[in-house]
Amino acid sequence: MKDSNFLKENNARHIWHPMGHPGELKRNTPKIIVGASDVSIEDIDGHKAIDAVGGLWCVNVGYSCDPIKNAITKQLDKLPYYSSFAGTSNDAAIELSYELNQWFEPEGMARAFFTSGGSDSVESALRLARQYHKVRGDFGRTKFFSLKKGYHGTHFGGASVNGNQRFRTAYEPLLAGCHHMPSPYTFRNPFNETNPEKLAQLCLQATEDEIIFQDPSTIAAFIMEPILGAGGVIVPHESFMPGIRALCDKYGILLISDEVITGFGRTGDWSGARHWNVKPDMMTCAKAITSAYYPFGATMIGEKVTDVFESDETGAASIGHGYTYSAHPVGAAAAVACLKETKRLKVNENAKIRGTQIFDAVVKLKEKYDIIGDVRGGHGLMTALEFVSDKASKTPLDNDSMAKIQKTAYEHGAFVRVGGHNIMMSPPLIVTEDHVNTIISALEAGIKSV
Ligand SMILES: Cc1ncc(COP(=O)(O)O)c(C=O)c1O
Repeated sequence: MKDSNFLKENNARHIWHPMGHPGELKRNTPKIIVGASDVSIEDIDGHKAIDAVGGLWCVNVGYSCDPIKNAITKQLDKLPYYSSFAGTSNDAAIELSYELNQWFEPEGMARAFFTSGGSDSVESALRLARQYHKVRGDFGRTKFFSLKKGYHGTHFGGASVNGNQRFRTAYEPLLAGCHHMPSPYTFRNPFNETNPEKLAQLCLQATEDEIIFQDPSTIAAFIMEPILGAGGVIVPHESFMPGIRALCDKYGILLISDEVITGFGRTGDWSGARHWNVKPDMMTCAKAITSAYYPFGATMIGEKVTDVFESDETGAASIGHGYTYSAHPVGAAAAVACLKETKRLKVNENAKIRGTQIFDAVVKLKEKYDIIGDVRGGHGLMTALEFVSDKASKTPLDNDSMAKIQKTAYEHGAFVRVGGHNIMMSPPLIVTEDHVNTIISALEAGIKSV
């Protein structure tokens, strides 16, 4: 390994980083993370901090999970790769598909289509949704509905259903036939409605209105996150996702629950859909499926969809879509080990308790500091604070102040994520009470610094 001077000098010189300006990153080079253990990361200067980002909402079982590391090593020795394109399979992927079907049995999921990550899982779900309608002979159903503020990755399909212009404008024109519904975001919404239940109803009414306007017979699927993550932890009222399910049923539209963040315990339940008592038609998973020890994902497919594909005798259900790394044996082995640990550690239960601890603490911070306009969370370990320079006008806090809060919090022992004028926290689901106390006191030091 090159020495630290070399690494610092070359940092961001030869890499273009995702989600950043290449010129800006050359001037303000990113932190170089060289190690991690338990729930903490260590940078090249030896500074350690609790990782309140959880990698990127993904390292749910923390950084020291030996069973996953051992499973990866063992699988590398046994079978480092083989394709799963029609004609060949592998034992690790078969074992994982069995586990996942059991895991998501309450949601009615019957099959797994394996991918290399969240964007892939979304892409697969959108494609399979269109194909489902075609196999049924319903050729007109091609459009996709989604929520403003939603995040569904960065493939062209995912970006087209994304609800944040930051990920869209530079790459337009995107996929035609994608329509974005109002988000149940009480702090800012076109209805000026702060009551979550009333807002949920208004968003549902607007959605039904748009479904009718677009003509239901042209709509393939509605994709949504049960709790919106990257858009700033937007927690809908409990009536919202069931309401979307009811609209999808009424108009023959498939419901895709994007569980890339919410899957495997982060909300306090084993899926976001289960958290709201909803059975989707498909679920997209990634991140926590291997706790990010290996890039891997799965699109889970419900019985309504599998019945149509598997009973087709015309050939229309043949899947002309897949990835070289679909069902990668090393990823599958990592996932089998990760799910076992996830279940053994009951990380969902801890997420619920620690999520409440963090949320209660940020509610108190909001009472103390005027620059906190809104706090969101309280459903597992997904928490956001929205910063404003002026409470009455809700003017977003400037980027330099946001960066200062993050930097100071880091110096005080916690790494938090900045997204626009939000600070988001999604630590590993194994955090303890003491870890949370450190995160909150570091964050408060950050807030005091601006
Ligand atoms: C809800 C959701 N869907 C999809 C994605 C895309 O996943 P990936 O970055 O693994 O491609 C993300 C990533 O954060 C996500 O949060």
